[in-house]
Parts: sequence; C-alpha cells; structure tokens
Amino acid sequence: MRLYIETYGCQMNVADSELIFGMLDREGYVRVEDPAGADVMLVNTCAVRDNAEQRVIGRMGELQRHKRPGSVLGVVGCMAQRLGPALLQQVPRVDMVVGPDAYRNLPELIRMAQAGERTSDTEFRAWEHYEDVPPVRESGPTAFVTVQRGCDYRCTFCIVPQTRGPERSRRLQDIVREVVELAGQGTSEVTLLGQTVNSFHDGEHDFADLLRAVGAVDGIRRLRFTSPYPTDFTPRCIEAMATTPAVCGHVHLPVQSGSNAVLRRMLRRYTRERYLEVVAALRSALPGITFSTDIIVGFPGETEAQFEETLTLVNDADFDDAYTFKYSVRQGTPAVRLGDHLADEVASARLRRLIDAVRSNTRRKNAARVGQCHEVLVERAAKRGNLMLARTRGNHLVLLDLPAGTVGEYHIARLTGTTGSTFTGTVAAPALAVL
Ligand code: 5AD
Repeated sequence: MRLYIETYGCQMNVADSELIFGMLDREGYVRVEDPAGADVMLVNTCAVRDNAEQRVIGRMGELQRHKRPGSVLGVVGCMAQRLGPALLQQVPRVDMVVGPDAYRNLPELIRMAQAGERTSDTEFRAWEHYEDVPPVRESGPTAFVTVQRGCDYRCTFCIVPQTRGPERSRRLQDIVREVVELAGQGTSEVTLLGQTVNSFHDGEHDFADLLRAVGAVDGIRRLRFTSPYPTDFTPRCIEAMATTPAVCGHVHLPVQSGSNAVLRRMLRRYTRERYLEVVAALRSALPGITFSTDIIVGFPGETEAQFEETLTLVNDADFDDAYTFKYSVRQGTPAVRLGDHLADEVASARLRRLIDAVRSNTRRKNAARVGQCHEVLVERAAKRGNLMLARTRGNHLVLLDLPAGTVGEYHIARLTGTTGSTFTGTVAAPALAVL
C-alpha cells in the first residue's frame, strides 16, 4: 500500500505527519512522494486562519483527480477536527475526516473507506500521546519531538483549543528515551514541540527539568523548543536555559500585539511591559539570544493608536524576525462575539506597515552581523547552485560552499553577506567536536 501525505501548517503538523507514517508503517504502508498512484492520500491541515483552509480546499480539488477505484482521500489535522463530518458534504470525493486525537484509528478508518464507507473520527482523547507509535522521520541531523499536545489557554482569536483539545504533557522519561534513540541514529539537534511548550508539566517534572534532561543526552548538541508562552518562563526555566549548553540562543516568543488593551481583549495573560521584562530577562541570562515572534494586526476593535503600539514594540523588543498575520475570524472562538470588526483594507494597510517595520529592523540587525563568526549545523542542500544550507544557533540560515556529504557537520562560519534575511558565508574552521 502506497501512502502519500501532504502537510500544511505548523511544526506540530510536520511531527504529526511523521507520527501518521509511523502508525501506518506498522501496517505495511510505504511512503510515496507523488499522489499519482498512491493508495491512500492524506492532507494534514491547519485551521488557524481562513486562507490556510482555502488553500487546502483548492488542493483537495486537485488531489481528487488522482483518485482511482479503491483509493482513499482523507483530510486529517486541525481543519478536519474543526469541520468534522461537514467536510464530507463540502468536498464530495473526500472519504475520511480524522482529527489529531484519532490517528490511532487510521488503519481501521482507511479499511472502512476502502470498503466504500465515508467516515469521520473527531473525538478528543485527552489521554492520547501515541506513546507506543514510533514516528517515521526523514533521517537527518535535526528532529522534532512532541512533548505536549493540546492547549488549555483561551486566547480569544485562536481555534487551536477546539482543534487539538486539552493540554497534556508526555512523561519526561519517555521523551528522554526517544531523544536517546534519535541521538543513536545521528540526530544532534532536537526541537521540542508543544502549543505552550514551556508550560510542560508531567506531574513530576517541569520544563526546566525537561531542558536539563534532554540537554544531557549524549550526542545532543543543540536543543530548541517552540512555541513558548511569555509568562511561562519561570526563573527556574531561564536558569535551566542559561546553564544547559545545548540550549540554543533563539526563542520564538509570540507577542500578538503591542497594545495592552488589545492583549486584554485577546485574553493574553501579560502586558507589553511584562513581555518586555521576559525578553530582557532572557537577554541577560543568554547573551546574544535572538527573538522571533508572531503578530496579529486588525484584531476586532484595534484602533490606529493601538496598532502603532505594535509598530513601536517591534523596535522596543528589537525582534530579529516576525511572522505577521491579518486577523482571521474563526467561528467558534470568543473573538467572533467582539464588536468592531475592522474593514479588510484597514487591516491590509496595517499589515503592510508592520511588515515594513519588521523588515527594516531585521535588515539592520543582520547587516551588523556580517563579518561575525558563528557555529553552524549543515542541514541540507540549498535550492540554489551547489551550496549547502546551514543554521546558526541563533536560527539564521547561511549558504555555504561545501560538498553535499557535509549534512550533519558542524563548522564555524564567517558571515560574508546578507540578503537582509539570510546569509552567505565561508567556513572559517571545523567546529570543535564537543560543546
Ligand atoms: N487570525 C490571525 N492569526 C492567527 N493566529 C492564530 N489565530 C489567528 C487568527 N484567528 C496566529 C497567531 C499564532 C500563529 C500560529 O497564528 O499569531 O501565534
């Protein structure tokens, strides 16, 4: 049986697709890279914004063309969870709709679909960690490791609590066992994943314990995590970051808005001032740390003055990078009921101004980095020329003239130029074998 999966959305979805491959690998499925000829085609979806869903609807139309008698087209992930069986009505040739807590039932659901029954499973299973299902990853020096599923926060714009269910953490021992195995296969960098990853707690251990335990695994030279919640950085956690050499000096810390009034309506649990304090605490504990963030513009009721507070935050927090989004109404979220939804032209204009502010800050910061030397990990071949793509601990991409066999190697690279966002570099020295 040939299995094709297309993945949209966040890193958690990438990890979930690896989990689905693991689930179906046990059933004898082989992975194929082309939907034509696949026996099962799955689209792992995102529901966080309407345009993510529209893209999937469009793509389903194309994938339907590859359907043959007996083959199965399934929608899995957050959009599947959000829309449930209604998706079966909306897209006539979809056979199967499966939410993130139901992947264990995929073999059975696929069998039913093959027998001609259109099926869905969107039940929440708050105990589900897929602990017994080893993900099938593409081999390489980096790996995602899910440490927490679901979300207990209630940000008013966000659909994720409805698509991924309640928060639950895996047990620290189970995570460490998985990382030990990965290190044994040659992985030297892991990224711990969770919706609010630093609220990790397995009943006995917190996120600080987890960082120390994973960072102590032999062979793990780099440890990253995404995405943390600003107020879940306890002093213990910051201390663990500062004293665990594998922890990389880069944090993706979604802020969403620079206005306290907007943050309050978003039900974020911090103010602009508190957010900046967290950033400052991390900067003083981890010198040279870089920050990226997520920002939403055009949240209901956002005034011009409130938007301008977001603009000034870009410079006050001195972000190295930011992912910027126009607010998208998600049915079922509390923000739907807020008044004062903004006209699309207003939100679009703000988004453009925000992107300009972010770009100019990023460009200025990166220009100042040219000439510096950084440790890089060679991740893969670049699309352009014969160059290799490597990453600094601060999460900057560097194009290097190295042979293809260097994936997984660490080097010291001198940054020689920048496009504003990525760098070119030359290898100054091989990096030391130990941290
Ligand atoms: N509209 C726009 N952006 C959103 N995000 C989450 N929900 C919405 C929404 N309704 C953004 C947030 C989050 C990122 C993953 O997606 O910035 O951090």
